[in-house]
Amino acid sequence: MAYSAEKLEEEKVFKDPVHRYIHVKDRVIWDLIGTKEFQRLRRIRQLGTTFLTFHGAEHSRFNHSLGVYEIVRRIVDDVFAGRPEWKEEERLLTLCAALLHDLGHGPFSHSFEKVFDLDHEDFTQAIIMGETEVNKVLTRIHKSFPKRVAEVIAKTSDNKLVISLISSQIDADRMDYLQRDAYFTGVSYGHFDMERILRVMRPQKDQVVIKKSGMHAVEDYIMSRYQMYWQVYFHPVSRGAEVILSKILHRAKYLYKQNYSFKHQPQHFYSFFNDKVTLEDYLKLDESIILYYFQMWQEEEDEILSDLCSRFVNRNLFKFTEFDPAKEYKKLAELNTLFIKAGIDPEYYLVVDSSSDLPYDFYRPGEEGERLPIHLLMKNGELRELSRESEVVDAISGKRRTDHKLYFPVDLLKDDSSKKNIKKQICSLLDI
Ligand code: NI
Repeated sequence: MAYSAEKLEEEKVFKDPVHRYIHVKDRVIWDLIGTKEFQRLRRIRQLGTTFLTFHGAEHSRFNHSLGVYEIVRRIVDDVFAGRPEWKEEERLLTLCAALLHDLGHGPFSHSFEKVFDLDHEDFTQAIIMGETEVNKVLTRIHKSFPKRVAEVIAKTSDNKLVISLISSQIDADRMDYLQRDAYFTGVSYGHFDMERILRVMRPQKDQVVIKKSGMHAVEDYIMSRYQMYWQVYFHPVSRGAEVILSKILHRAKYLYKQNYSFKHQPQHFYSFFNDKVTLEDYLKLDESIILYYFQMWQEEEDEILSDLCSRFVNRNLFKFTEFDPAKEYKKLAELNTLFIKAGIDPEYYLVVDSSSDLPYDFYRPGEEGERLPIHLLMKNGELRELSRESEVVDAISGKRRTDHKLYFPVDLLKDDSSKKNIKKQICSLLDI
């Protein structure tokens, strides 16, 4: 029997707190889950530093990837199967792309990628196409199969319908992470009627559309996304932890470049510090390794590195205040000067962080990775863009909201053992 058609003798079932069960019948899916590159996702948290704010948020990219696979499996097997617009031969391609869509995420992806100027999407492509166990499994289907999977994930595939199941404004990725992140953080946002949405999804030539009768369930989903962004994903405390994390990596890189002699040599980081990252180095790094270094670096002679690491490990985070960079740049310059006078390096201890989000967009090329708008399928067969039908969605669509915060170590500023007067001035400027 062709490998692509091979089924497991007995269906495998994973217990899952969000979808109850995740079902695997296809041999290839089972084999992909067993690869070391996929297992690595167990050691990368889905929400980075969010566990320092919501202590339940310890779930991994592994959980989420299985969840996205399960949602797509239900769509294709329970809703699309047998419909003339759906080609059954795309089933396995869709399932593999769903399972592997986040394969290239690194530890604490967001901050890590920024510091080292890397992109997890490039690594997803590299893992699928490179000399890896994942590539071996996919190649058993056909030698061109890894490339087809990679193209769906990169959104360059001709198969727009399959792409829209995995990355659009109502895709399996978002439907899984909203519910999963709500579950693990314990917040009451993030819930919506996914069963209903799945039942009213219809395949069309270039995209998945939603029957008009499911509009209110979709409104709920958009609102839950909106709430989750501001209540969880952009939580100022988690962002403050990210600020510290990225400053640690910056400091370690800086010291390495200065030939500083580390007590604990950053072996796993050499290629990152030298901007020569190979796939092998990348795959070796996970969150347990990073946290190991942070733990060890608390003992370094360099005060900035050891202080920042101890802040991260022991959750002694920075405080923050609202900040408007357009109006308050003079104040920032003044604070910078005072920080230097007080002997606190502003490069590491006075940091502006900005977050912004578009809750839903009808069409704006270049934004949001050009995620497709949501189309409703009307009774007469016509398609209508969601914000034209829904007043709720119309009210928030196309509106970008940005939030800026200024972070600083309140404990150092309140410590009046030295430079008391300067620190006093800083505190009054910061209004603390
Ligand atoms: Ni994802």
